[in-house]
Order: sequence, then C-alpha cells, then structure tokens
Amino acid sequence: MRKRILTGITTTGTPHIGNYLGAIKPALDLVDSENDSFFFLADYHALIKQTDSSEIEKSVKDVALSWLASGLDPEISNFYRQSDIPEVHELTWILSCCAAKGLLNRAHAYKSFVSENIKSGADEDKGIHLGLFSYPVLMTADILIFNATHVPVGPDQAQHMEMARDIAGKFNHTYSNLLTIPETIIQNEISVPGIDGRKMSKSYDNIIPFLSNEKTLKKSIARIITNSLEPGEPKDHQSCTLFQLYLFFASNDEIESMKQAYKDGISWGDVKKELFKVINNELMPIREKYLELIDDPNLLNDLFAAGASKVRPQAQQLIEKMREVTGITKIV
Ligand code: TRP
Repeated sequence: MRKRILTGITTTGTPHIGNYLGAIKPALDLVDSENDSFFFLADYHALIKQTDSSEIEKSVKDVALSWLASGLDPEISNFYRQSDIPEVHELTWILSCCAAKGLLNRAHAYKSFVSENIKSGADEDKGIHLGLFSYPVLMTADILIFNATHVPVGPDQAQHMEMARDIAGKFNHTYSNLLTIPETIIQNEISVPGIDGRKMSKSYDNIIPFLSNEKTLKKSIARIITNSLEPGEPKDHQSCTLFQLYLFFASNDEIESMKQAYKDGISWGDVKKELFKVINNELMPIREKYLELIDDPNLLNDLFAAGASKVRPQAQQLIEKMREVTGITKIV
C-alpha cells in the first residue's frame, strides 16, 4: 500500500539553521514517488503561544518560504495551511468527545506548565488556556482528517502520537472503522549547537540565521565562541562548536582534512573561514530561490489556495461519513 506521510509545521518564529538541519531537511528527504506526502503549516497551533497577529502573519510567510526554498515542490507534495481546511475543527470537536480528559492530563507539555505553577506557589491553572490543554486533539485531527499512515515527528511529539492513536481507536471502536491509525516515525533529534555552544534556539539568542545574506551569515559565524588557543597550537576538534557545525555541511574528505588541521594548529580565524565556505555553499542556492520567491507577491496566496483545493475534498468526504455514523445527518 502507498504510504501517506503527513507532518505539521508550527508557524512560530523564523527558521534558523537548527530548524533547517533538524526538521526541514529530514522531512524533505522522505519525499519520493512511492509515497504521498502532506506538509502543512499548523497556523492555528501558533495561537497557543503567540497573540501578536503581525508575528503570526510574518511567521507563516517565513516558514512557507523556507520550506519552498529548501526544495519542497508543491507539484509533488501536498502543501497547505491548516486554517484553509476548516473541517479540521469539526473533526477536532468530534474527537474531543472521544478523548479522555485523563489522557490529556498526562501530556508532558501541559504537565510541565502545571508543575512550574505549583513550584512557584501559584494556582496550578495559572496562565493555562483550554487551547494548550486540548492541543493534542487538534494535532490528532490534523493527522486523521487525511488518513495519514505515517507521521514523522521529533521525539518530543511521540506522546502526542500515542494520544492520536488512542483517540482514533476510541472513535473507530465507538462508531465505525473510518479512521486510519497512524504510525509514528520518530526522527532522531539532531543536536545543532548555537554560537555559544548550547543547543541552537531562539530562546537562547544564539542562532545562525537561515535565509540571511552572506554578510549576516559571516557575522554570526565570527561570533561563535572558541577557546583562546593561539594559531600554531594544536586544538581539539571534538569539543569545538565550529567543528560540530562543520560536520553538518562538509564532505567526508573535508572533515578528515579539518581534523588534521586542528592537530596542526589551524587558527580560529581560518576555521571560521572554512566553516563559512561550506555553509554558504549549501545555503546559496536556497537563498537565491528564496529571493526569487519573495519577489512574487501573489505566489504564496496562490500556492495556499491551490494546495487547499487539492486536498480539501478528501477532508469533506471524511467529515460527511463521520456525520453519518455519529448521527449528525440531514433529517429525511
Ligand atoms: N505539534 C507539532 C510540533 O510542535 C506540529 C504539528 C501540528 C504536527 N500538527 C501536526 C506534527 C500533525 C505532525 C502531525 O512539532
């Protein structure tokens, strides 16, 4: 049977190199002619964390252009916005009535908010809205609405996938076998260090931007923290942030000669030059594509409209059947 691979991309922030290496590239690697692929922008998920409307709009654009520039081909993969498929919300309600509250109580993300509140002596529900609590049900609906068979996610989403499978099973058992129980593909967490050596993350303010120009890229690389060994002194590649980043972009031969250069006492300035070269080589065509895409003001709207009209009929069909089996039908 043809696999149907589906994954959602939450539209918060602007993608950085860590997102590119850890999420965009591995997801696009799964696309081949043997499978159907569905990639969607989970824009309604973004409302859980972001209330600034201009940030929401900007992020949808930045994220969409990052994926397209990196090689997502909307002729091959289905690419759409969650908000263009309103059936997702109808399904969310039906599934909410199949989702045990006790199951959602156990969600790590929700539980960590509660435990932070308790630790700080606040009411345990402080700052927690229903959207945060029931978010796994919306994610379940995203997946089940298109009968996905395989869902690639990071390890932090594994528990949500178990919930999706549980909720789908409950619906099938209660009403009718309409829903496909999805398999989880856990994508290894790729640990990309930021310029201070900690995990690259917007919240640590240590990112290397992804769609920036060469000058900004060079500046970020110049800011990467090293030790104070002088040129000529042998250096350890293993503990070095520059080398860890180099590994993601360089060829095997380049990596081997860089190891030797560390032993021979290469200067930090020269390592940074080499690192810039390999990163820039990979990002240059992506940057060019991005500049071409951003030049066309109607492109994204047209793409989103085309993407939704291609897949939405399937969602409508499923909802129609679900209405039937749950008794929400026309009176005849
Ligand atoms: N919750 C996912 C994340 O934060 C994003 C997401 C939303 C998703 N809906 C999905 C992933 C459906 C896979 C399938 O990474």
